[in-house]
Amino acid sequence: MKIDLRRESIHEGNLILVNAVCPLKKEPEETKLCSVLGDHNIEMIKEAAEKLKELTEYVKIGKNIVGVSGFRSLREQQQIYQESLAENGEEFTRKYVALPNHSEHQSGLAIDVAKRQKEIDFICPEFPYKGIFGKFRKYAADFGFVERYPKEKEKITGIGAEPWHFRYVGTPHAKLMYERNMVLEEYIQWIKQYDMVRNPLVIIDGKNQVSISYVRAENYREITVPEKSAVDISGNNIDGFLVTIKSV
Ligand code: DAL
Ligand code: ZN
Repeated sequence: MKIDLRRESIHEGNLILVNAVCPLKKEPEETKLCSVLGDHNIEMIKEAAEKLKELTEYVKIGKNIVGVSGFRSLREQQQIYQESLAENGEEFTRKYVALPNHSEHQSGLAIDVAKRQKEIDFICPEFPYKGIFGKFRKYAADFGFVERYPKEKEKITGIGAEPWHFRYVGTPHAKLMYERNMVLEEYIQWIKQYDMVRNPLVIIDGKNQVSISYVRAENYREITVPEKSAVDISGNNIDGFLVTIKSV
């Protein structure tokens, strides 16, 4: 089976890197967004919303978790940035708020969550590591979510530690990132060694064999994948694609 790779698609998909040097190129369409955590003001793209629901149900976190911020438009990110500058100053804002067009929240793939309590800080909500919140963290990767800004990776992500910010990348990528202690910047770079034709990364995920590889956009206009397989192609938002082939 042949699949066309459109050049502009490198900016779309669950694995796009959005950070200070990699702006978001395309916001999701309104129709692709769904509300999450029972709050119609908090939205994520459909696949992420479904997986978040599965995760919260699996760990039975119930009403202990609150959605603080999901999808944000460019205007909302600009407003948050400006308000934080005024209220918290430049150092804090650069650490905890991404520049407009450089926020994962604009992709619909990120969510900030909090422990339910009276006072919830909008920029730095509390989401503990213990108890039911620890359980949520433990299983998050099985449902495709990663804690995106860990403390020890601040220099790589360019953002301060944010224990409340989760990013949907899909499976088995989240599990690989978790097991290898890699943030998305590192993961995308690591996968580049796995050429789709010569040397794909092959892993066993549950009952499935999964092959993950990198395809450089300028080298390929189309790729050939096995007929009997589930294929997911995501741009990396830089120069190519991560191709995930699950045998079925
Ligand atoms: N707090 C994260 C970095 C954002 O503003 O996207
Ligand atoms: Zn966030």
